[in-house]
Amino acid sequence: MTTSCAIHGLGFHVPERVLTNADLEKMVETSDEWITTRTGIKERRIAAAGTACSDLALGAARKALAAAGLAADDLTHIIVATLTPDAYVPSTACILEYKLGTTRKVAFDLNAACSGFSYALEQARAICCLHPEALVLIIGAEILSTRTNWADRSTCVLFGDGAGAAILGGAARGPGLGRLEDVLLSSDGSIWPMLTVIGGGSMHPYAKGECIGDEFFVHMDGREVYKHAVRNMEAVTEAILAKHGLTFADIDLFIPHQANLRIIEGVTKRFGLPADKVYINVDRYGNTSAASVPIAMAEAYAQGRIPPGARVVVTTFGGGFTWGASLLRF
Ligand SMILES: CC(C)(COP(=O)(O)OP(=O)(O)OC[C@H]1O[C@@H](n2cnc3c(N)ncnc32)[C@H](O)[C@@H]1OP(=O)(O)O)[C@@H](O)C(=O)NCCC(=O)NCCS
Repeated sequence: MTTSCAIHGLGFHVPERVLTNADLEKMVETSDEWITTRTGIKERRIAAAGTACSDLALGAARKALAAAGLAADDLTHIIVATLTPDAYVPSTACILEYKLGTTRKVAFDLNAACSGFSYALEQARAICCLHPEALVLIIGAEILSTRTNWADRSTCVLFGDGAGAAILGGAARGPGLGRLEDVLLSSDGSIWPMLTVIGGGSMHPYAKGECIGDEFFVHMDGREVYKHAVRNMEAVTEAILAKHGLTFADIDLFIPHQANLRIIEGVTKRFGLPADKVYINVDRYGNTSAASVPIAMAEAYAQGRIPPGARVVVTTFGGGFTWGASLLRF
């Protein structure tokens, strides 16, 4: 179904503290060389102690609102995509609503792991279809440093903290900066154990006074996740282009989930995309999960990499497994 869903503003926020590969060399048995060749990551941002997911979301939300020339009171919906929420209850979206100084929105969280922003785009599209006057703030925000086992070298080098936001509006809100033309989503729960953060959930609750164990942190079968990420990101990107009768020659900028440079290169090599058509910032932020694509999109827009008329494809992959691709026209 074709819906009118326009992008009105983009913004991102990352913590100030930079954790470099040289810093990690002092924490676990690793090297800048290993991390760079395996992942392309040189540094990542880490939130200060006491920072909540909603604090990073707030920074990104304010920038997106300012870019759109809107006030928080103008919003109708607030959706936060995250796997590291402030709390089980209330939702990070409700806390963000409070921190934005507004009320009486429709606020909720969703968790599709690193694909959360793709899933939030689809939610925004559906809301704009139902309510042409809607103004939906969607945010991917993560503090993965709180769920990282800093003694596990196979995972602690990969992740970073941050938030990215977009404001989408229905037909009654005008054309905005660009249009969200389509979203394709998919999932496969049969292989969920390959990427998990189980501890504290109902499947693995903690008794009062019990110490948290390794299961509190990210666990991943890196090699298997790698294969599935490449395969599914390729397939969903090809599917959305084919659905619209487009080829890669029609795409001005491809923004893939910033998990790992090798995954990005694996996907783009197959597509034959030149480097200037692929946005990459994984070297500076690491994998920020649901925040990765909205940070990259907001940064690319601010850098003038998405001029008027540009056709953009964003593709994500994450735990679940979940994956998705979106087609945008600026
Ligand atoms: C995690 C990942 C970088 C590991 O790369 P890899 O080439 O598969 O490396 P392996 O897992 O085979 O490990 C190779 C060796 O390096 C070691 N190693 C792991 N982490 C290391 C580190 N940070 N520094 C140095 N050595 C490390 C391993 O212990 C292993 O040693 P061994 O052979 O003596 O057992 C890679 O699998 C990957 O990118 N997976 C996808 C991860 C991802 O992006 N997930 C999120 C998707 S949303």
